[in-house]
Amino acid sequence: MRYRIILFLLLSLLLIFTSFSCGDKNEIESERDEQESVNPLNNKGIGPIKSVSLSDIDNTRADVGKSIFEMKCSACHKLDEKVVGPVLADVTKRRSPEWILNMILNSKEMLESDPIAMDLLSVYLTQMPYQNVSEIEARDILEYFRQHDSKIKK
Ligand code: HEC
Repeated sequence: MRYRIILFLLLSLLLIFTSFSCGDKNEIESERDEQESVNPLNNKGIGPIKSVSLSDIDNTRADVGKSIFEMKCSACHKLDEKVVGPVLADVTKRRSPEWILNMILNSKEMLESDPIAMDLLSVYLTQMPYQNVSEIEARDILEYFRQHDSKIKK
């Protein structure tokens, strides 16, 4: 009888021990998941752009991007000053290239479903409209942002 009680106690201890160690593991994993979803650079946004590979800055492309930006975006954005929309200096450091392109090409859906875009909308209270920009033009604009951000001294 006594052996049974000891055996029972040992088994219970084993059970408690394993459930604790499993709990720790889950905690570590969920912490890691949280960090990934919190880091905005891991968010690629929603839209046609799934992955972008960046190489050295192409200044010719950046110049084209600058003129498109001045034509289609500057009513609401300046690089170094808040207008209707956010300041865009440093945007390539706080957002992934895919996210920026999807925001330009698919702003409506982004503002409805992407957590970062939804947060911005709750601050700026104006919906950024799609400006009839092609994927190539959006990429030129991104090159302009990259060129600008590479010159910012930190
Ligand atoms: C009618 C005003 C308007 C126009 C035009 C506009 N935007 Fe926006 N943009 C906004 C607003 C407002 C936001 C913040 C999100 C929101 O409320 O829609 C924003 C957000 C952004 C963001 C995200 C900024 C951040 O901090 O993450 C990028 C990038 C951006 N716009 C790029 C562009 C580009 C490039 C163009 C031109 C093709 C453009 N926008 C045209 C109003 C505009």
